[in-house]
This record gives sequence, structure tokens and C-alpha cells, in this order.
Amino acid sequence: MFTRLWKWLHPVQAEQEQAEPAPALSPERQSDRRRRLTGVPYLLPKDLDEINRLDFQHYVLRLALGRLTFAPIEEQLRHGGQVLDVGCGSGRWAIEIARLYPLTQVTGLDLEQVKATTSPPNYRFVQGNILEGLPFADSTFLYTHQRFLVAALPLERWPWVVQELYRVTAPGGWIELIELGAETRNAGPGLQQLIAWGRQAAAMRGIDGTQMNRLSQWLQQAGCRQILSHTLWLPVGAWAGRLGLLFIRDLVAGFSGLEAPVTSICGLSPEHFRQTIAALEQECDQHRTQYACYLAAGQR
Ligand SMILES: C[S@@+](CC[C@H](N)C(=O)[O-])C[C@H]1O[C@@H](n2cnc3c(N)ncnc32)[C@H](O)[C@@H]1O
Repeated sequence: MFTRLWKWLHPVQAEQEQAEPAPALSPERQSDRRRRLTGVPYLLPKDLDEINRLDFQHYVLRLALGRLTFAPIEEQLRHGGQVLDVGCGSGRWAIEIARLYPLTQVTGLDLEQVKATTSPPNYRFVQGNILEGLPFADSTFLYTHQRFLVAALPLERWPWVVQELYRVTAPGGWIELIELGAETRNAGPGLQQLIAWGRQAAAMRGIDGTQMNRLSQWLQQAGCRQILSHTLWLPVGAWAGRLGLLFIRDLVAGFSGLEAPVTSICGLSPEHFRQTIAALEQECDQHRTQYACYLAAGQR
């Protein structure tokens, strides 16, 4: 009990022994002048623009979902407990959970902390790499959350990663996974092309967004019971009102973040790539496009 409390109050010292150094930055600026990490499979940039996009994307998903959690955990969170957010990005989700449930102790884990935000006293950041294992003891967390790591985890590592989330979750606790995949309804040729380029670039790192409909299968394999899953069809474009308008902006910014890996791997000119993205808004409006977001949760 005392050791746990000490670790909570001294996260840096407590995790120092296990924590790996943060992956190095790419030494040269890339063609799109975005900052990226090297030494990890992660495809997206790691800069202020991307952090702002992640905040924006968080609000889009919260609007679509109407809540912060998919797992049926709200009642338990009101009474406290430890929460983990793996690949926490800007920390927005984790900080909102900490504010909403002041009796919880929320930990956000990521490769690096990107900006200092004012955070509540029941939130802390821990540096770590999920692909090297989580620096936490078995059965530590009541609720383990991982969202939008599709561009970070090679397909063959997914079962192991979910097993690791299961390991640190306490019996009776919940694990929640949320991912955008590559599945669409009514996609026009531009969006289909962008997804195909993205797949090609991702495949070079063993990443496969087409398999994100397997989240509940991986939860089951890890040993979870009471598995819940849902596919949220996010509308893309102004045709669907405010949510569609916000989501197309997120999608455009997300694809733009893939410019350097996609153009170099697919042998495209940056102009061609940018033109395809620029036409997306009108195309998705015409086709009334939707994009799949997979939600899955399971109890340990
Ligand atoms: C697309 S962002 C999603 C951030 C956040 N989960 C959200 O929903 O806003 C992916 C995050 O995963 C982090 N990440 C990538 N590879 C990781 C790894 N191997 N271990 C831990 N975090 C990782 C990135 O640094 C980035 O912050």
C-alpha cells in the first residue's frame, strides 16, 4: 500500500529504473517539415500541429459518442480507482477523466510528453513504450484505455499488446480499445486512393489498419469476458452537419500528417498528394461518405 502511494507521489523516480529513454528525433526535417520520432514504427508526426489535431479529434469523438467511456465503468470511477491511458498523446482524454472523476488516479503513458498542460493533481504522465512492455505491476488498474494506436503498432504485436493491457488491469477491471480503421461506406475515388497509399506506407512498418475490426477478438484471446463491441460510423463532410464537418477536418489533417512516409514510399510528388487531400471535402460531401470507428471493451 505504502509503496504504491510512494510510486504515485514520485512517478519519475519510481519509474526511472524501468523507463527506456525517449526515442530519438529524426535528425533531418522531412519533405513536409514535420517532426517525427525515429526508432519506433509510429507513422504520424510528433509536433504541435499534431497535438492540436489530437485535441480536436478528441472533441470529435466525444461529440460522436456523447461520453468519454465506452466500457460500463462510470459508476466505479465515481468511487475512485486507478486509470491508465496508453499512448495518451496530448493527454486530453486522461485529464478529462481525472477532472470528471476526482477520486480516481489517472496515468497517461506515451513515448514522450509533448507539452506542459495544466493538469489536475490526480493526473500524472509516465514515459514508456508499450511495445517494450508497461512499467507497471500486474493488476494495477481498474480501467485501462488505449485509443488510436493503429499507426503505431505492427499487426503481429497487437495480441501481445492487448495481453499486456490485460496484465496490468485488475480482476473485475475493464480494458477499452478504440481505433479508426480503413473501412468506409460510400467512399469516392480520392478517399479510396488515400487509404490505399496509407496502407502501402503502413505495410512497410508491419502496420495494417484493415485489421482493426479484430479488437474484440484480441480482448477475448487475452482472457477478457463480457466483451462489448460497436462500430461507430462517423459521417465525413458537411452533408452530415456539425459532426461531419468536424470529422472531415480531422481526416484532412490526419492524412496530411502522412505526407512524408506516403510520398517517399509510394513514389508520389507532394503536390499530387496534397491535391488529392484538397479534393476530399467536396468528394465526401457528394458521396455522403462514412468512416468506421471500432469500439471494444472487455472485463478482466
Ligand atoms: C494518434 S495518437 C492518439 C493519442 C490519444 N490516444 C488520443 O486518442 O488522442 C497516438 C499516440 O500514441 C503514441 N505512441 C506511438 N507509439 C507508441 C508506443 N510504442 N508506446 C507508447 N505510445 C506510443 C504517440 O506518441 C501518440 O501520442
